[in-house]
Amino acid sequence: MNLPPEMVARGSEEERLAAGLDPARLPRHVAVIMDGNGRWAKGRFLPRVAGHRAGVQSVRETIEGSARLGIEVLTLYAFSKENWKRPRAEVDTLMGLLREYLRRERQALRDNNIRLKVIGRLDDLPASVRAEVTEAVEYLSENDGMQLNIALSYGGRAELVDACRRMLAEGIDPASVDEDTVDRYLYTAGCPDPDLLIRTSGEMRISNFLLWQIAYSEIWITDTLWPDFKLRHLLEAITAYQGRERRFGGTSSSRSEQSAAAARG
Ligand code: FPP
Repeated sequence: MNLPPEMVARGSEEERLAAGLDPARLPRHVAVIMDGNGRWAKGRFLPRVAGHRAGVQSVRETIEGSARLGIEVLTLYAFSKENWKRPRAEVDTLMGLLREYLRRERQALRDNNIRLKVIGRLDDLPASVRAEVTEAVEYLSENDGMQLNIALSYGGRAELVDACRRMLAEGIDPASVDEDTVDRYLYTAGCPDPDLLIRTSGEMRISNFLLWQIAYSEIWITDTLWPDFKLRHLLEAITAYQGRERRFGGTSSSRSEQSAAAARG
């Protein structure tokens, strides 16, 4: 694949990695657990919030890179339900960064034809952040390119609880509930499941992220801390993804028989 010259320098590692990608086998949905901001700051004798600030540049680069590559959905885990337990000053800084990001970057998001959705318990957020989210979603609503999901006050278990509550409130017939029904009640309704889940900073955990949706996702973990995560790492993750064989619980031969049968009609 070729990426525009303003994104990848001639002869660079990024250019080499992009050229090796098969555009027909890109992940449709990439989900990212952005981790390691605190450690990045600690390693530089800086306060934790400096790591979050530096992480915004990685957010920018990952969003733009994914959109340019033609990824359909990118989901970023920006603030978990559990993150409210952090010191007040850190939570306030994160909320401030989100507000600032949504205000400052919406023009760039519009130029990149990106739609925005925020997933999670939005009622938990300060009114000023909610207002910024509503404005940004509205501002980008005419776009029809990549969907950016930002997970805020998000928890995978809470998402399932909310889905159950809504199903019960609507009086759905229990016998009619199947996996597609549950899908339709999740915050991510309408999105394909993540094909690729990336986690930075080397931790081998799911941390309550998209528990239902990642049933068959390929997981790629890098030791790189989130503020150091750049386009090159995204390209490395997708390269590794394209090198894997996805079997969805079958065997490689049963998958190729299924594809052959599908091709025969
Ligand atoms: C995890 O690092 C990171 C977060 C809890 C916040 C992620 C937020 C950003 C990158 C900035 C704002 C986001 C957007 C979408 C504009 P950590 O603090 O848990 O790191 P540690 O494990 O090293 O302590």
